[in-house]
Order: sequence, then C-alpha cells, then structure tokens
Amino acid sequence: MDFVGLSLLSFVVALFLGLYTGTFEPAIELAGNLSLSEKRPMKNESVKQDSELLTENFYRESCPSAERIIRSSIRVMYDAKPGIAPSLVRLLFHDCFIGGCDASVLLDTDKAFASEKEAPPNLSLKGFDVLETIKSKLENVCPGVVSCADILALAARESVQLTGGPRFLVKTGRRDRTTALKDAAGRELPAPQANLSVVLRSFASKGFTARETVALLGAHSIGITHCEFFEDRLYNFSGTGKPDPELNPVLLQELKTKCPFSASISPPSATTGSTPSLDDKTYTAVPLKSMVIDLSFNNEGGQADFGIRYYRGLMQKKGVMFADQQLMAKDETARWVRAYAHDSQRFRKDFAKAMTKLTNLQILTAPLGEVRKQCSKVLNTF
Ligand SMILES: *[C@@H]1O[C@H](CO)[C@@H](O)[C@H](O)[C@H]1NC(C)=O
Ligand SMILES: *[C@@H]1O[C@H](CO)[C@@H](O)[C@H](O)[C@H]1NC(C)=O
Ligand SMILES: *[C@@H]1O[C@H](CO)[C@@H](O)[C@H](O)[C@H]1NC(C)=O
Ligand SMILES: *[C@@H]1O[C@H](CO)[C@@H](O)[C@H](O)[C@H]1NC(C)=O
Ligand SMILES: *[C@@H]1O[C@H](CO)[C@@H](O)[C@H](O)[C@H]1NC(C)=O
Repeated sequence: MDFVGLSLLSFVVALFLGLYTGTFEPAIELAGNLSLSEKRPMKNESVKQDSELLTENFYRESCPSAERIIRSSIRVMYDAKPGIAPSLVRLLFHDCFIGGCDASVLLDTDKAFASEKEAPPNLSLKGFDVLETIKSKLENVCPGVVSCADILALAARESVQLTGGPRFLVKTGRRDRTTALKDAAGRELPAPQANLSVVLRSFASKGFTARETVALLGAHSIGITHCEFFEDRLYNFSGTGKPDPELNPVLLQELKTKCPFSASISPPSATTGSTPSLDDKTYTAVPLKSMVIDLSFNNEGGQADFGIRYYRGLMQKKGVMFADQQLMAKDETARWVRAYAHDSQRFRKDFAKAMTKLTNLQILTAPLGEVRKQCSKVLNTF
C-alpha cells in the first residue's frame, strides 16, 4: 500500500538522495567523489563559511517586500506545478554542496546544468524558470538588490514547507559568484549506487555528521528518479544476475513493472568506481532508461509525514535507491533512521537545523561577489 503512488502515475516525485549525473533529479543529491566536489578555483574570491556574516531579513530596508514576493510567487507556481518544489530543493543542494551557496549553479555557462536543461523531463527545467521569474519581479521592485543565491535559498525553504516539511531559518545577505564554472567535470557527482561510506564521507567533507546526513536525506520524501539509477537492483545486483536482497519483494515487483528489463543493463557505475559523464547522452538515447519514477512516499499520507514515510520505508527495505537503503547498513545511521521514523518532531527539528546549515555553506558576502540582474548571467556579460 505504501507504493500506491507508483502504480498510479507514470511519473511522480521522490528523492533527496541521489546523485547528479545529468538526468537524475532528487531533491538532494549525494556527492561521493571528494576530489571532484572540492571548492573549484575561482578568480580571487575568498570563501566564508561563517553564518554570522548573514543576517535575518537582510533586505528589511533595501527591499522590504523581497521575502514576501518570493513566498507568494512560489506558492502560486507550486499550485500550478507541484514538481517545482523538489526541483528547487535540489538546486539549492547542488548549489550549496558544490562550491558554496553562491548561485553558480544557475549560470547558463555551466555546462553540467546546461546539459540538464536539455534533458527530457520537464521537471528539471522548472527550478531555473521559477527563479528567473522571481528574479525579474524583484528587479522591477528593487533593481540590483536581491541576490540569486538568496532567492534560491528562500525559494527552497518555501518549497520544503509547501511539501509538508518544517520551516527552517534562512538568513540572507548572500552574494552571487561573479565567475562561471569553466570545467564541467568539476560538477560531477557520484552515482546513486554509492555505499554508505561514500555517502558519509561526502557529507562529512561539507561538515555534516552522520545524524545530519540522515536528516537531510529525509528530503528524499520528495523528488523523482529514473529507472536507470536503480534498475541494477531489480535485475542484476552487483553482477549476481539477481535482485538486491535488501529490496522489499513487494516493492521489487512494483518497480519491475515500472522499469521493465532493458537489454542494455550493465553493472552500475558505482561498482566500477566511475560515474557516467555529464556529457554522456546515452541515457537519453535509450527510452527505457529515461523513464521517470516518482518516489514520493508522501502523496497518500498527505503532507503530515514529510520525511517520516521515507524512514519507515527504509525500515521495510523500501529505499528505492541503493544509497538510500544503505542508511540501514550501519548502526551509526540506522539508529537515526529508526529515531526519525518514530519521532516526527525530532526529525523536523534536526532536518530544519541541517537545512539551515546547508544554506550557510561557503557563502559570499559583500564586498565579495555581486548581485546579478539575471540569475543565469553574471553582470559583466551585459
Ligand atoms: C574521483 O574522480 C577522479 C577523476 O575521475 C579519480 O581520479 C579519483 O580516483 C576519484 N576519487 C574517488 C575517491 O573516487
Ligand atoms: C587575491 O587578492 C589578494 C589581496 O588583494 C592578493 O594578495 C592575491 O595575490 C590575490 N590572488 C590572486 C590569485 O589574484
Ligand atoms: C512537458 O511539458 C509539456 C507542456 O507543459 C507537456 O505537453 C509535456 O507532456 C511534458 N513532458 C513531460 C515529459 O512531462
Ligand atoms: C564503498 O564504495 C567505495 C567506492 O566504490 C569502495 O572503495 C568501498 O570499498 C565500498 N565500501 C564498502 C563497505 O563496500
Ligand atoms: C549481470 O552482470 C554481470 C556482471 O557484469 C554480467 O556478466 C551478466 O551478464 C549480467 N547478467 C544479465 C542477466 O544481464
């Protein structure tokens, strides 16, 4: 019954965990290759990680209506297209996790995301459009004042709340990075097949504890994923020719009907230690592999159980992605899965704190950075 949503819709929502490979769209992504997720070199801008540099309601005087405009815009757009919510949370995660919350993820010149913009499912487009729409509204009211990095953080906060998650503190005053990423490879993140050690190491590199990592992954209550990212678990787990024994048999059958065996299935990249290139178009060339699966555990339960259903699912071996189910592999994380599954308030508190911490990663504040006029372009290109 937990997966009624899967059988009803050909595509839906779901993941927070998951890794970015150009066609995968979880609300939060995993990053495994530490060397690649290091801060990328930028033209002489130092990075700060001090949340004290930000203030609450930074635009109180310079643009008093900013936060209200962002909130109401997101609400209106969410009503029309609920899929924008996981898209925005994912964008925030990607922005902050890779190189800091500086809106660099929004730049057109970013090859990784440019290629994502061309990817088939519409959901990937929404986040960018939504932010650009809000940005132009704000430019009309207070030109050159509100940074794209702040818009993204505030928009993601609203998105979490709209999908049933807790409200978390988002201080403001971030500035946008003035340089675009030159090297798309620097954006590469590891596969959703990452094991727990890789996941924990990756989050630890950004300062997150195991507990915070488990809490953040609760955002996998919302989002979507593609068959290609877990079909090895259905048909040929680790080259055994059998399904993953850690996958609930009922869920296994449901997922198999959604993701029929494709002849081209090969061992997951994670087991071979490499990940598909961001420029790799082969996924989109194979229709089956690009099928989208809604992993939302929350649809039928309403919004009251954001996160909770995810953790309860893991306890029943219903994590769709290997990396999700891996949270049950060691007590270090499994104890928090159990704790959150049974204590919604504890989860919501921890999740809110971890999200606030995420929004403070490696921020730029004045006089560093700039305030873009369009989120997709740095100022000096005008
Ligand atoms: C990260 O990726 C680089 C380049 O693909 C590779 O040389 C390195 O071994 C990887 N590191 C890890 C920890 O996977
Ligand atoms: C960055 O700025 C500092 C201080 O202005 C300067 O000493 C340093 O040489 C600059 N570094 C680069 C790479 O331009
Ligand atoms: C994308 O959006 C268009 C227009 O909104 C719609 O007709 C189309 O079916 C959508 N495609 C997918 C894969 O959702
Ligand atoms: C986790 O994955 C990494 C990279 O693929 C591998 O080196 C490591 O041995 C794996 N750890 C476990 C416990 O399987
Ligand atoms: C499963 O993976 C193994 C290892 O790559 C491969 O040799 C085997 O042919 C695969 N089995 C199927 C049914 O695809």
